[in-house]
Amino acid sequence: MLSGKTVIVGVTGGIAAYKAAEAISRLRKMNADVHVIMTKNACQFITPLTLQTLSQNLVVTDMFSQPSRWEIEHISLAEKANMILVVPATANIIGKVANGIADDMLSTTIIASKAPVVFACAMNTNMYKNPIVQANLSRLSEKGYMFIEPCTGMLACGKEGTGRMAEPEDIIEKAVGVLLYKPDLRGKKVLVTAGPTREYFDPVRFITNNSSGKMGYAIARVAAARGAKVTLISGPVNLKKPCGVEVIDVVSAQQMFNEVNKRLDMTDILIKAAAVADYRPAEVSASKIKKSSGSMNIELQRNPDILKEVSGKKGNKVVVGFSMETENLKANAQAKLREKNLDMIVANDITVKGAGFETDTNVVKILNRHGEIKDYPLMSKQEVANVILNEVLALIAEVQYGKNS
Ligand code: C5P
Repeated sequence: MLSGKTVIVGVTGGIAAYKAAEAISRLRKMNADVHVIMTKNACQFITPLTLQTLSQNLVVTDMFSQPSRWEIEHISLAEKANMILVVPATANIIGKVANGIADDMLSTTIIASKAPVVFACAMNTNMYKNPIVQANLSRLSEKGYMFIEPCTGMLACGKEGTGRMAEPEDIIEKAVGVLLYKPDLRGKKVLVTAGPTREYFDPVRFITNNSSGKMGYAIARVAAARGAKVTLISGPVNLKKPCGVEVIDVVSAQQMFNEVNKRLDMTDILIKAAAVADYRPAEVSASKIKKSSGSMNIELQRNPDILKEVSGKKGNKVVVGFSMETENLKANAQAKLREKNLDMIVANDITVKGAGFETDTNVVKILNRHGEIKDYPLMSKQEVANVILNEVLALIAEVQYGKNS
């Protein structure tokens, strides 16, 4: 996945330095060429030998004050790098880079490089909240440096708070996003819905649609990797939350509708990949309904069609719907595109092999409001997400600036 990509991993002196080992190992498993630079303090927490073995390259440390050939080589590495990942990033390295201080190999390399830099922050809560550290973070962020925010939880110092470094899995998810995608959605606010909704008729039973949520989650993940600010409104699914995405969990269609509605004004791109239940039970029993010998009838009433309802407030948003069909795919998708006033619809026929619910792949047609139809072959849901966002980007200019419309 990352063949041909060169990653410099900077390791600084925080207790989370041990997690750098796993991050490096994950990058190597994806075939990235990994070069590690450790600060002097980092060597107190983890040995260069460990990281050398895992990265399969010599590790540069600041243990030897004597300048060596490495210094020269590292400037060339700084030029060649596709990204620099600092795991963990202490208040110290953040402060140095924010203020242009280059007094060791890591800070020198970061300042000498034009590659994207991601800092996985890790520090004590009070340090993280310190206004000077916050000012340094904002300053770096304005200049395009990226961060993986620390999590909240038990810190190594024994206190509860924000400052614990994100897990290697999330750090690598972010790194892969930076390596594989351009930040062409930076500044855009994307709202994605995913998964099924559940419509309960007693405390234990509900009606639902079949949906794993994988397509919507892939869209949220790729949009975030392409620099968008993403909110994902998710029905009940069994998936890992995408890194750097705000996730709002909902259960019913009505809740999903309310959450979408609340955020509509702040949205540039709305992508509705959720399989929303069209009906809900007219009555919900407070206790579990007992079975009886005869048949049972449940009266259903219509749920709001979220897409149709928001189409009146569309403004200059790009609105994308999904259409899952078992017959007359094209005609049904075209009808939905018109009826729901969409800019684009992604249609898939669940009877086609590799398309549909639980799979990691999909086979789609993308129809847009100009009547153009594109057929795509079998692709991973991640690739489909990328293609959908490419099409959205093309439509954004038209919708927002009236080009060709
Ligand atoms: O009409 P149908 O349910 O097939 O349309 C599918 C599209 O409409 C999807 O994008 C889905 O998320 C959206 N939808 C909705 N509200 C509903 C039902 C579907 O927004 N109640």
